[in-house]
Amino acid sequence: MTPDRYTLAGTDVSIPVLGVGTWAWGDRSTWGMGSYDTALTRDSIREAWDASIDAGVTLFDTAEVYGGGESERIIGQLLAGDPQQASTTTVATKFMPSPWKVQVRGSLVKSVRASLDRLGLPAVDLYQIHGPISLRSHAAMADALAAAHQAGLVKAVGVSNYSAKETRSMAEALGARGMRLATNQIEFSLLRRSPETSGLLAACRELGVLPLAYSPIGQGRLTGKYSASHPPPGKRNFSKHPMAVVDGVVDELRRIGDKYGGKLPSQVALNWVIAKGVVPIPGAKNRHQAEENAGALGWSIDEEDMDRLDQTALAGVRSLQGRMWQHG
Ligand SMILES: NC(=O)c1ccc[n+]([C@@H]2O[C@H](COP(=O)([O-])OP(=O)(O)OC[C@H]3O[C@@H](n4cnc5c(N)ncnc54)[C@H](OP(=O)(O)O)[C@@H]3O)[C@@H](O)[C@H]2O)c1
Repeated sequence: MTPDRYTLAGTDVSIPVLGVGTWAWGDRSTWGMGSYDTALTRDSIREAWDASIDAGVTLFDTAEVYGGGESERIIGQLLAGDPQQASTTTVATKFMPSPWKVQVRGSLVKSVRASLDRLGLPAVDLYQIHGPISLRSHAAMADALAAAHQAGLVKAVGVSNYSAKETRSMAEALGARGMRLATNQIEFSLLRRSPETSGLLAACRELGVLPLAYSPIGQGRLTGKYSASHPPPGKRNFSKHPMAVVDGVVDELRRIGDKYGGKLPSQVALNWVIAKGVVPIPGAKNRHQAEENAGALGWSIDEEDMDRLDQTALAGVRSLQGRMWQHG
């Protein structure tokens, strides 16, 4: 049985089983705001924000690198616009541990303060290390997170793109400092099932680390609106599958969705992630997408169809380095 909400380890911060990713908010290169996607505007973002909160989807994931800080700035403006609504939301952001940030403790504390400034918050609910790309040890990274926590700047701490071994090591390093590792944000979807088959999800479960799934609808490729004959715009090739292969997965999502009263491919894809005990954070650019994604809540796929989806799912590849440098 999937719970309705999760509590982040080491805190009393409670999050819903579905969140919203905000990489596209303010981003020009991948998601096209201000360039190829003219429908992605401050107004469409505000509508996505409102619709998500109205549906109980109150976790928003951002990062210092999204849109060069613009995503955090937009969230800050939305929070400031309605303090009452803001009190119901949970914000997660990330530190980019670039190898040249050798004084990692000072860099991280400086970064979190800059993020809080853009967000207009006194503390962030969840602060994540964006990827295992620092030249410094997990002990040094844990020291940096502990410093931010002790200064009251972050409530829960997490990582992203960490393998099972790296997750275990970070959990131990934080444990030695009296802290818990709350989350590991990873690419997990029907286009990238390998975190389940490799044992990463099992390791997270064992350690009490909640996995969050990024790109859970395959960067839009699992919604059914793209196909081999109508590929998505921009750079959307996480896990590197030809669209003709993705088309086969979408066909299965459609078939299963029909069995559940006409659920959409995106809703089936998200429901599958939620059933795995992983919190998906699909990006939403407008009200329509936010409402559709929230339609993944309140129903569940039966065991037989979960098995079918498991068989249909593609392993995917971990193309961490290329993506980290480009967009974080
Ligand atoms: N930690 C990391 O390294 C990392 C990496 C990537 C992402 N993330 C996080 O994860 C979040 C989600 O991942 P993602 O944005 O890469 O991919 P995603 O959530 O799989 O796809 C989001 C995109 O799909 C389209 N879409 C969303 N809902 C839709 C719907 N109901 N119907 C039709 N199209 C819909 C939109 O793009 P179009 O309308 O343009 O098609 C949207 O921007 C990000 O926003 C970010 O917060 C983290």
